Amino acid sequence: MNTEQHIVDPQHPDPAVIERAAAVLRRGGLVAFPTETVYGLGANALDASAIKKIYIAKQRPASDPIIAHIHSSEQLALLAMQVPDVALALADRFWPGALTLILRRRPSVPENIAQGTGTIAVRMPDHPVASALLRAANLPVAAPSANTFTRPSATLAAHVLEDLDGRIDMLLDGGSATIGVESTVLDLSGDAPTVLRPGGVLLDDLRALIPELRVAPKYLAQDTDTQSPGQLLKHYSPKARLLLFTGADHARVSRSMHDNAVQLIGAGRKVGIMGADAELDTLPAGVLKAALGNRDDLATTGQRLFAALRELDAQDVDVILAADPGRDGLGAALWDRLLRAAEGDVINIT
Ligand code: TXA
Ligand code: MG
Repeated sequence: MNTEQHIVDPQHPDPAVIERAAAVLRRGGLVAFPTETVYGLGANALDASAIKKIYIAKQRPASDPIIAHIHSSEQLALLAMQVPDVALALADRFWPGALTLILRRRPSVPENIAQGTGTIAVRMPDHPVASALLRAANLPVAAPSANTFTRPSATLAAHVLEDLDGRIDMLLDGGSATIGVESTVLDLSGDAPTVLRPGGVLLDDLRALIPELRVAPKYLAQDTDTQSPGQLLKHYSPKARLLLFTGADHARVSRSMHDNAVQLIGAGRKVGIMGADAELDTLPAGVLKAALGNRDDLATTGQRLFAALRELDAQDVDVILAADPGRDGLGAALWDRLLRAAEGDVINIT
């Protein structure tokens, strides 16, 4: 199929283009669109055959459930039932925004949005293009990240095309996603509120409302000591092998990355490094660099992370070296993505 592309002003999208995209959704087609976190691949969340097309386009296993996106709190009633008060309080505080809530699913919602779970993940995105599209379609829209399964998420329209050109009906190009990592996924369907994926809404901000918050990332533990690579789901993966360097003393971690880069180059490997701007200045010749901003500027690191992985991949490196961003603030989400991209290949510098 031909993927129809439209460039839209991210702040003031052309209503005629938005209407065209909404019509695609209404007739059961697939539209990729920008959100503040990453690009989403949307389909009518109330239409099982439209949802099925998402799994096919992304080559995603049917066992991996999809988030439904809404533009108003009233739409929640279409999707979820027995919505607990804490969900309403969280929605009030964080929506529109980078928080996804898992709730009990209404039986009328197609099963294949979240196979075998009895639940539904819901988010109200905070992006003028996403909001306009959701309003125009007036449907809840199922949308995973707009990348092929296991690849880094798409933060630019070019990334969507890399993975999905010819596999989806339409792409709205609204420029770069502003946060750059996906939403925080919070499960409210069980006994204790549990974060399954750290993301754009920070854990400390959630704890202010839910002091008893549990954090249990679905695919791995937070700490390198307890994580077991065997349990890691391959995800966010560059084609190259990614080595993730961690350690209490950042200067030593940085030096070790340099030493490793020199060794790998000596062994004839093509090496890329993702790192803070200042660290990249002193690298040995021949190393390919992807700059992530200042080391203490996690917002910029977040915006750049997935693009950096894709840039280095496009240059056919064999190995990518990356440094631990810490665990504070957005660092928890960045660490999670890097750890999964590295498939557990963590080098601890003590
Ligand atoms: O920021 C985001 O969340 C982006 C934008 C497009 O909204 N979407 C996104 O979707 O990242 P996706 O499909 O790439 O990741 C959704 C995550 C997956 O880890 C999935 O397993 C989990 O949410 N999830 C979705 N529905 C769930 C459910 N009912 N129960 C448990 N986990 C669920
Ligand atoms: Mg994804």
